[in-house]
Amino acid sequence: MDNNYDLILHGGNCVSHDGISRSDIALRDGRIVGIGDYARAKAANFMNVRGLHVLPGIIDSQVHFREPGAEHNEDLESGSRAAVLGGVTSVFEMPNTRPTTTSTQALDDKLDRASNRMWCDHAFFVGADKENIDSLSTLERHFGCCGIKLFMGSSTGDLLVDDDEDIFRVLKNGQRRIAVHSEDENRLRERRSIAMETGDVHAHAQWRDVETAVSSTRRLLRAARATGRRVHVLHVTTAEEMRLLADEKTLATVEVTPQHLTLASPSCYDMLGTLAQMNPPIRDKAHQEALWQGVREGIVDVLGSDHAPHSRKDKDKDYPSSPSGMPGVQTLLPLMLEHVAAGKLTIMRLVDLLCTGPARVFGIASKGRIAVGYDGDVTIVDLNSKRRIEESWLASKCGWSPFSGFEVRGWPVATIVRGRVCMREGELLGNPSGEPVRFQESLTPLSVR
Ligand code: DOR
Repeated sequence: MDNNYDLILHGGNCVSHDGISRSDIALRDGRIVGIGDYARAKAANFMNVRGLHVLPGIIDSQVHFREPGAEHNEDLESGSRAAVLGGVTSVFEMPNTRPTTTSTQALDDKLDRASNRMWCDHAFFVGADKENIDSLSTLERHFGCCGIKLFMGSSTGDLLVDDDEDIFRVLKNGQRRIAVHSEDENRLRERRSIAMETGDVHAHAQWRDVETAVSSTRRLLRAARATGRRVHVLHVTTAEEMRLLADEKTLATVEVTPQHLTLASPSCYDMLGTLAQMNPPIRDKAHQEALWQGVREGIVDVLGSDHAPHSRKDKDKDYPSSPSGMPGVQTLLPLMLEHVAAGKLTIMRLVDLLCTGPARVFGIASKGRIAVGYDGDVTIVDLNSKRRIEESWLASKCGWSPFSGFEVRGWPVATIVRGRVCMREGELLGNPSGEPVRFQESLTPLSVR
């Protein structure tokens, strides 16, 4: 047996395509090079992970870190630091950030800013807007781009393509799966007075009601069928959409968020006020149960945190001037491990939703599995660790979490990105050296490593 390894993870319970089995994992040059018995092999570093579970690196395919300026209290460094502290090895950042990512130049700017500052691997969505529709098929193949994001309803920022004719043009211009914020802008405009008149965040899910989400998703699926374009419907929140999407698995993949699976109205607004305000909104228990059913039935493909921090000062504004969004990249895994402990899903299904799922949906090259030849991205968790989510643990500059004080069973204890241990027992190690994620649909001779 070759005994020249950079790192051996010894004795952990490896959660892979093969089930859960006790095996060592050998890493070299940033990749997984062996799975089996490496107890006697020699390696530069040896980590005893007995009693722990070894997962493929967690991929959060929806975050908003935002730069430059501090107006949103987050940047690529702090957001990615939060990611690795929470066991996340790769993130995909949304385009309604700074600069708004709608051009090659903006994408290159993001990649430059990320270099030597991001702790985890990363990719960036390009936002569709009315000006760049004809360039989308070129933009989506740019190095470091995870695909196109379409806002059918407005949220934070001003990205919006809301009429059917333009939506069709967006879907016709490109090949890759397109990620969509699905809320109906016309209905949002018509009903905005509901939010304005009450001035109470409890009205958020009435303003942005079930029909707002359902009518948009119906229109989107019609356009997807007519154009043959694959779509990824982000943060699905309603029972009705889950049924529509179950009938469209040829074309459509589905994301839900941990917060929609964990919080419900009206109690979330009673407890958290505008901290629970996000788009699409947190809805009642019946919808939450439908999302869980979607998880159980396999309709849901991925979980994304939709990490979108806003400062407390902004959140303290009177509703609806208060911004929508909440942080989540660091709590994504601990929270979902608590759901595993509570029996809501298995650890295998969690790996499917956070590792294999994103890799399949976005066509990630060599991530998402613990398999020989794949990137050495590994998240190690202690399923027996009982912890409280403390604000002092959070790296996000906004300094708050809707899950502060939550008790969870299960905790990330090490984050390994391409063979480098960058978090161990809550401590950051080394320097930020995240790299752009590569995608099968946009590989070039230069990006094949
Ligand atoms: O609540 C939200 N906030 N939903 C989104 O889709 C965007 C996000 C943000 O960017 O703040």
